[in-house]
Amino acid sequence: MHPYINELRKTHDLSEDICQSAFKLLMTYEKNTTAQHSIKVAAEAKLLAQTFGENGQRAEIVGALHDISDVIPPEKRLEIAECYRIEILPEERCFPLILHQKLSGLIAQQIFKIEDEELLAAISCHTTLRANPSKLDMILFIADKIKWDQKDRSSYIREMNKELEKSLEAAAYAFIKHQLENSAKLMVVHPWLVEAYDYLQQFI
Ligand SMILES: [Fe+2]
Ligand SMILES: [Fe+2]
Repeated sequence: MHPYINELRKTHDLSEDICQSAFKLLMTYEKNTTAQHSIKVAAEAKLLAQTFGENGQRAEIVGALHDISDVIPPEKRLEIAECYRIEILPEERCFPLILHQKLSGLIAQQIFKIEDEELLAAISCHTTLRANPSKLDMILFIADKIKWDQKDRSSYIREMNKELEKSLEAAAYAFIKHQLENSAKLMVVHPWLVEAYDYLQQFI
């Protein structure tokens, strides 16, 4: 085990409720903004799950854990991903911040003892989505974007909310379309984002 993950394991109290425990871990590492954001994403994901016939509690858990890797300092991200043999794509090596989705999946598994592959997969693709996403993948992806504190949020939020009246696929597609149309603002275009876009076109 990587010494930093071992340190996190010691800090973490597994006896508590997962959502409370995730919040507490983020606060221990002074990630207040991420802790507040995660609470909002968990609530939004739960709501979306209830609307789209999915399990609200599972959605709440992935919402609470999706950015938990913020407790890993940026300079340790590549090293930890390599230590656990996480596949690192060229875009992730060039911009390791985007690795945080896979590292949150790692912490969910290693520290929070989540074994359910569907939960781990949703956490691990929450930023970029992926081809053939599960409903839970899309719920978390959308909840994260709705609760994302971006200055130009209003430019896509209205469109996403409108598309949500049709389907999760339509809302996810609307956001990715907006991202790709504004790709000059992105540090990298992650291949999973493009794959998700191509895949979702069949539902539009
Ligand atoms: Fe994130
Ligand atoms: Fe997030």
